[in-house]
Amino acid sequence: MKNVVILISGRGSNMEAIVRAQLQGVKIAAVISNRPDAGGLDFAAGHGIATAVVDHKGFASRDHFDAALAECVDGFAPDLVVLAGFMRVLTETFVRRYDGRLLNIHPSLLPSFPGLHTHARALEAGVRLHGATVHFVTAELDCGPIVVQAAVPVLAHDDEAALAARVLRQEHRIYPQAVQWFAQGRLQIDAGRVRVAGVNEAEAGWSVPPLDV
Ligand code: GRF
Repeated sequence: MKNVVILISGRGSNMEAIVRAQLQGVKIAAVISNRPDAGGLDFAAGHGIATAVVDHKGFASRDHFDAALAECVDGFAPDLVVLAGFMRVLTETFVRRYDGRLLNIHPSLLPSFPGLHTHARALEAGVRLHGATVHFVTAELDCGPIVVQAAVPVLAHDDEAALAARVLRQEHRIYPQAVQWFAQGRLQIDAGRVRVAGVNEAEAGWSVPPLDV
């Protein structure tokens, strides 16, 4: 059984998707938020999952906050730490501590559109395909080895909300899949690239929904 600790900052729909997936060999050991009002905390508590808050506002520096967060996370003995809409940039010290066992989901097809406002930027750029990426976290923001991506079409009438919703549906598919692969020990990082062991290479790690979504 792998202990998974999920970090959230808000509504926590990706966390919810991972919990609801009832992944084999996975125990959601805790859901931790940096915001006391994060909506996802209620869902987690309602599902019998331990919750904790480490409020970043209570710390004088990023280093102090990250040290307190790591102490909280380590209290749940995680095999894997999952960032699910966790809206704080983490220090290199924190990232190194969980090297190879820290995942993030980012709402774009990385390396396009790292950072914030990805859907607005995708619309502005006029790209025809957009999507989401699950990746291992490294010190550089939104830059680590890619585990799985899902692409969605960008349609002529899309606004930011419509595009975000289409991407989010895919996030809820690929994040549980990535966590399941990790728990099964199937993710191997080699020279900055991820191999998913034991699955058809043509199908592993990417996903395109039908174009009439
Ligand atoms: C998701 O779009 C995720 O990719 C991004 O922030 C959003 C969080 O949504 N990092 P939720 O809290 O999981 O509902």
